[in-house]
Order: sequence, then structure tokens, then C-alpha cells
Amino acid sequence: MTNHLYYGDNLSVLRKSIADECVDLIYLDPPFNSNASYNVLFKGPQGNQSAAQIEAFDDTWHWNDSAESAFQEVRRSGNGAAASMLNAMRGFLGDNDMMAYLAMMAVRLLELHRVLKPTGSLYLHCDPTASHYLKILLDAVFGAANFQNEIIWSYRRWPTKARRFQRMHDVIFYYTKSSEPGVFNTLYQEASESSKKRWKGKKQNVTFDETGHRNPTAETSDESTVPLNTVWPIPVIAPVSKERLGYPTQKPVALLERIINASSNPGDVVLDPFCGCGTTVHAAQKLDRQWIGIDVTHLAIGLIEKRLRDAFPKVEFTTHGVPQDIAGARDLANRGRDDKNYYFEFEKWALSLINAQPGNQSKKGADKGIDGNIYFGRTDRAIVSVKAGENVGVAMIRDLRGVIEREGAAIGIFLTLTEPTKPMVAEAASAGQCTVEGFAPVPRIQIVTIQQAMDLRDRALILPARRDDTFKKAPREADHRAQGKLDL
Ligand SMILES: C[S@@+](CC[C@H](N)C(=O)[O-])C[C@H]1O[C@@H](n2cnc3c(N)ncnc32)[C@H](O)[C@@H]1O
Repeated sequence: MTNHLYYGDNLSVLRKSIADECVDLIYLDPPFNSNASYNVLFKGPQGNQSAAQIEAFDDTWHWNDSAESAFQEVRRSGNGAAASMLNAMRGFLGDNDMMAYLAMMAVRLLELHRVLKPTGSLYLHCDPTASHYLKILLDAVFGAANFQNEIIWSYRRWPTKARRFQRMHDVIFYYTKSSEPGVFNTLYQEASESSKKRWKGKKQNVTFDETGHRNPTAETSDESTVPLNTVWPIPVIAPVSKERLGYPTQKPVALLERIINASSNPGDVVLDPFCGCGTTVHAAQKLDRQWIGIDVTHLAIGLIEKRLRDAFPKVEFTTHGVPQDIAGARDLANRGRDDKNYYFEFEKWALSLINAQPGNQSKKGADKGIDGNIYFGRTDRAIVSVKAGENVGVAMIRDLRGVIEREGAAIGIFLTLTEPTKPMVAEAASAGQCTVEGFAPVPRIQIVTIQQAMDLRDRALILPARRDDTFKKAPREADHRAQGKLDL
């Protein structure tokens, strides 16, 4: 099996690519239907204050054809309990946004149940917006007898005063496919002060890290430890933390390490079908598990690839669904002709090749010819224009020249799927050079083909003094094989 990253809708990826009963552990952190649009923040020219924001995903659902077809698929699935539960929910909720969300989740939970080994476990992470409905759905799909725990991930946030209590926890439902979990490794936590007092006189200097493992450097004494319970205080990732990558719903690796340590063993297969910026696959890699990650936004997949390579320089994995050659790139671009979302996916993918930040594509008309940006030097900027079409011409180079003049940018990059014509090359050359003090002059307008960008990545363009911080870097993880055996 080894490690796989899929770009696409998890429903079709699960159906097309994941066999029955091949996964040991599933963790899912689906969007919560909390009516929020998340923006991914990129580092801007001034460092942490983000310059560009783009909409990564919109976690709202509406009752429409795809909700209706998800609903019908559950009815036809052969899982009578899930079908009648979803029917009952529709009777109660009607055809509203929550019902659309639950139909979307139900059809996916059935697939997740299918791919889980009989000995496998599933952890569903949610918040109170839909947790009560999701638990009933899980009872229907997995069987109420296979419910194992409701875990409370408690965290501290900046206190705010409101006319209700401030929420400081998320909920994680733990189910197994059969009534006896195949793997359950007991983790430990420090005993409470009152228990410790009762054990007075015995050694009490054992400590635990956030993952529930004994600290190997501390002297251990079983009298001061108790098995981990269902309330897990783990800090959220601090805004200044090195772990923070800028993905809005990023979860702490320590949380995922606990789940993976408890419900899998080294070598087992861990799946996250809503993998976001890849916390689960990062923790799985760190703990020597095989893993599968799926996400529908190209941005998430791009971030994960970078995160894994930064943290584990020797990591091996296969990415599926992202163009691997020029034919794949054309295919993605062709899909974009009929569907605006695919067009943006092509654009984001193309920009990621040369490590450029996406412009504000989701806001119609707002980009004014700026598909992407690259910041270099202290305050200099290159503007990127992406062209997926077959008809490219000299007017487009003139337009780009106009945009960089209007914006006061130093350089324009014309990133094109189709080879440029001779007049285009001549027009680009006539724009002259950009000179930054202390560096050799470089062409002011540069034409880069997608083929060149795929072959050479950001070496396909020439920038003076490029800064390597478009995306934040995940800290490199120690080679776990060098750390000796895990203390379970
Ligand atoms: C709450 S975030 C997950 C965050 C993740 N746990 C982390 O630590 O980064 C939910 C993710 O689900 C993805 N998503 C939403 N619908 C999806 C679908 N149908 N198939 C695959 N991924 C989807 C979104 O793009 C988003 O990245």
C-alpha cells in the first residue's frame, strides 16, 4: 500500500481507488457546516501580515441536485438503518442546508465503513453545530454497539464575554467496525493531584507528553499514572507556533498522535478523507504508519506535499489527481473550460509549480490581471499571469506589461500552457530588463511554459534575490527510526 495523496472529491476517490477492508484507522475532520468561508493566509511581503487571501473552501451546503442524489444513494445503499435514519432526519429537518450536509456525510460514511478492516476504528471530529446529528448517523452506519467513546478535545482560547458560555472544546466520536476493537493501545496520563496525595510516599516524577506517552527521560513509576480518559487537554496551535502553516482549520499533530498511537500499530494504514493541510498524514508518517490523504482543494494538496518534504526529507508518497505530465495539465485545463472551479484549480496548480502565491481569484474581477504574485528582495514583486488556453497572442504580453506598470511591479511572468508565438517572444524582449541593486539584471517580462515549470519548478524563471517563504515551512521532524522503540 505505502503512502498516497489524492486530489479530488473523497466520495469518488473512495469509490474508484480504495478497496474494501484495507484501512486500519480513519480520522475525519469534515467541514462543520458552520457557515464559514475559510481563507488561507499567505505570507506577504512584510512577513506575517498576510497580503493575499484566497478562499480555500466554503463549508456551506444547500439542498440541490447533488444533495438529492446523495440522499437517494444512501436509500439504495443496502444499509437499511442508515437509509431510514436519513429519511427520518429529512422528515424532521426538511430540505435545508443541514439536511444537505448530513446527506453528503451519510453517503461518505457508508464508503468509509466499507474500506475499514473488520478490526478497524474510525474517529470523527466535529463541533456542536452538527455533532448530535452525526452521532445518530454513525450509530446507523456502524451500529450503536460499536460506539466506543465521545472524546472531548479541550483547549484554551482568549477569554471573551458573551451572553452564553464560551466554547473551549471539540468532540471526537470513536467507533469501531466490530464490537471488539482490533487494536487498542492503552495510553497514560499523569494522575490527579488528589490521587497522587493518596499514593504519598511513592515516587511521582513520571511525566507525559501530549501524545500520552511516558516521557522516556523521566523516572517511571506506575503509581503516579492512570490510563488516559476521554477528556484531552491539548493546546490549539498558537499563532506564533512553528507548527502553524496558515491553514485555518489545522489541528495539532499531538492530537493526531494520540489517536494513531491508541488505535493503530506501526505499519498499519491510516486514512484521512478530509485531510486539509495534512496533520493526520504528518503524524502517521512520524509514527511509521502507512497513510492515505484525500482533499478536494489543490491548495491543501500543495501544502501537504511541501509540509511532508520539509518535515521528512526522505518521505516517499504518490500524489494522484494532480497533473504529472503535460497531458494531465491539458486535461485539467480542459475541465476548466466547462467548470469555473476547475479553472481555478488549474490556475492554483500552475502557480504552485513556480512557488507563486495565488491572487484573489474567487472575487470576481478583483484580480485586474493579477493571477499570482511572487515577492522577492525586500519589497519587490513579480506579477504572474496564467493562461490555460490554446489561443495566446502578442496582445496578452502587452496587457501584462500594462499591469506591471500600473501596479509598480518589477517583473511580469507569463505562465502559459501553449507555446508562445515569435511575436510574443519579441514583445517580451522589448520590455527590457529589471535591475535590482547588487544583482545581475533579469528580463522584465518572462515567458514560462507549463512544461518548463513542470520540469524546472521555480528555476524556470529568473528573479533577483528570491525569498523562499511563500509558504511557511514545517519544522523538520527527527528521523523516528533513530529514536528507538515507542513506549506504548
Ligand atoms: C476542517 S478541514 C480539515 C483540517 C485538517 N484536519 C487539518 O488539520 O489541516 C476540512 C477539509 O475538507 C476538505 N473537503 C471538503 N469537502 C471535501 C470533499 N468532498 N472531499 C475531499 N475533501 C473535502 C476541505 O478542502 C478542507 O481542507
